Amino acid sequence: MKKIGVLTSGGDSPGMNAAIRAVVRAGIYNGLKVVGIKRGYEGLINGDIEEMKLSSVADIIHRGGTMLRTARSEAFKTEEGFKKALNVIKIFGIEGIVVIGGDGSLKGAERLSQAGIPTIGLPGTIDNDLAYTDYTIGFDTAINTVLHAISNIRDTSTSHGRANIVEVMGRHCGDIALYAGLAGGAESIIVPEEEFSIDEVCKRLIQGKNRGKLHSIIILAEGASKNSYAIAKEIEEKTGIEVRITILGHIQRGGSPTAFDRILASQMGSKAVDLLIQGKKSRAVGIKGNEICDFDILEALSMKKKMNKDLYALTKILSI
Ligand code: F6P
Repeated sequence: MKKIGVLTSGGDSPGMNAAIRAVVRAGIYNGLKVVGIKRGYEGLINGDIEEMKLSSVADIIHRGGTMLRTARSEAFKTEEGFKKALNVIKIFGIEGIVVIGGDGSLKGAERLSQAGIPTIGLPGTIDNDLAYTDYTIGFDTAINTVLHAISNIRDTSTSHGRANIVEVMGRHCGDIALYAGLAGGAESIIVPEEEFSIDEVCKRLIQGKNRGKLHSIIILAEGASKNSYAIAKEIEEKTGIEVRITILGHIQRGGSPTAFDRILASQMGSKAVDLLIQGKKSRAVGIKGNEICDFDILEALSMKKKMNKDLYALTKILSI
């Protein structure tokens, strides 16, 4: 193998730059040429590709976002777009690709491997919704961002004696809500994976108020069955406590990656290069019990994500 490419695809996540840096530097260290493919699969279709040097990835390990930019490519899913991409890969002499992104991006990586282009996937998403890996690149930074927001909201919540709903991202996965909620001492955590009752949320608010608690934080995952406004209205009607809503949105996707995300991304990027050099294809790199590991992409994507029920139960015990 002489030349490999690297791309980031789907929603960006903090740590993607650290992963790109690791792929480029480990690739060059091992005597490979490395090219950067811009805007994910869109760049592959349009030939938006440039050679990466050691200096191309200098000064990026601490930056959020992705220097290669990203896109959710609809064109790549079509036969025409996919054929164009294969043609561009041939023209540029790319013999292996590292794809950094979420489940949709890994599906694209699998398709490329099926078409004869050895492709390795790295889990780059804040959602932590990929079952084959304990952690995805960007999740740790995102929960720390949420934690910071909770602290600020708690201050004003206390001053006014209000309850605050903090809505977080995660698509269908409640991990951001669960982990940030536990770390932030939230009174209630509402996730898509578990049924919840407004009455229980209200009971916790009233119990807290009765023993002199001035603030109350309810963390709501965006994929939950009810939205912030409906929940706030019901709580106000049932308890008479004033509720405010903060939807954190894309603030969770930005910012300088934590040490954990930088280290994870660096290890995974280097592992991807090793796998390509070993002649592997269609592998998804992950971390299980502190060990960097890899699975067949189809197998990885077929695993069903399970919420950590013990952690969820613990949040209920600790927020009485
Ligand atoms: O997958 C990452 C994520 O941030 C989800 O948590 C969220 O639902 C979605 O992307 C938002 O996507 P977009 O940035 O395209 O609006």
